[in-house]
Amino acid sequence: MKKKLIAGNWKMNGSLAANETLVKGLLAGLGAPVCQVALCVPSVYLAQCQALMAHGAMSLGSQDVSQHEVGAFTGEISAAMLQEFGVHYCIVGHSERRQYHFESDVLVATKAQRVLACGITPIVCVGETLAEREAGRTEEVVKRQLAAVIHANGCCISEVVVAYEPVWAIGTGKTASIEQAQQVHAVLRQQLQAASNQADRIPIIYGGSMNAANAAQLLAQPDIDGGLVGGASLKVSDFLSIIASAC
Ligand code: 13P
Repeated sequence: MKKKLIAGNWKMNGSLAANETLVKGLLAGLGAPVCQVALCVPSVYLAQCQALMAHGAMSLGSQDVSQHEVGAFTGEISAAMLQEFGVHYCIVGHSERRQYHFESDVLVATKAQRVLACGITPIVCVGETLAEREAGRTEEVVKRQLAAVIHANGCCISEVVVAYEPVWAIGTGKTASIEQAQQVHAVLRQQLQAASNQADRIPIIYGGSMNAANAAQLLAQPDIDGGLVGGASLKVSDFLSIIASAC
């Protein structure tokens, strides 16, 4: 059976002191989990978290990457730089980047290519807004977002993680119902199957107000292979209990 993946997305939260408490608390409570656990931290804390997590049971992740390989791009961070800090996963196309930084489907697909070329697994986020869901456009939107990544990455598509994050469920306390989430995951699975004969091993994880109370039910669905957890990944006990639901 495929191992579930539980990835925390700290977003723009943390401090040297808070990170140390959080990571040490997680490591102390984790033991040897039978699922995969990752922490996607702000880039300035990669070195700190790499050191804190060395030899531990969690993988390091980043939250974004430049679409460029190298050069005069002030403020950007390349995939090769992430690789130097032991980054294993990199979120690309998070809805907050699509919304606030106007990232297009093509740009997100290029970012996925950049990290794959450095041996880093992209966590490709897709998801519809509330207006798109209410207009009955959920499938069309998530398929369009994923199609760009499939198109740009060819057979490497089997090396990605896909995260379905309905925009209206992020940070709002509103979770997609179990049926809504499973239904979209099944659509994404079919799309991946049409693109790759390895599709069944591609993790499709759910994000959007996942918490200690709803994780077990979501993670029990046949096409939900894990979670991308925002707010609840900042609290040791909440994140550990989500991990326990997955293991
Ligand atoms: P919340 O879990 O805070 O809703 O955030 C989800 C998310 O955006 C993870 O990437």
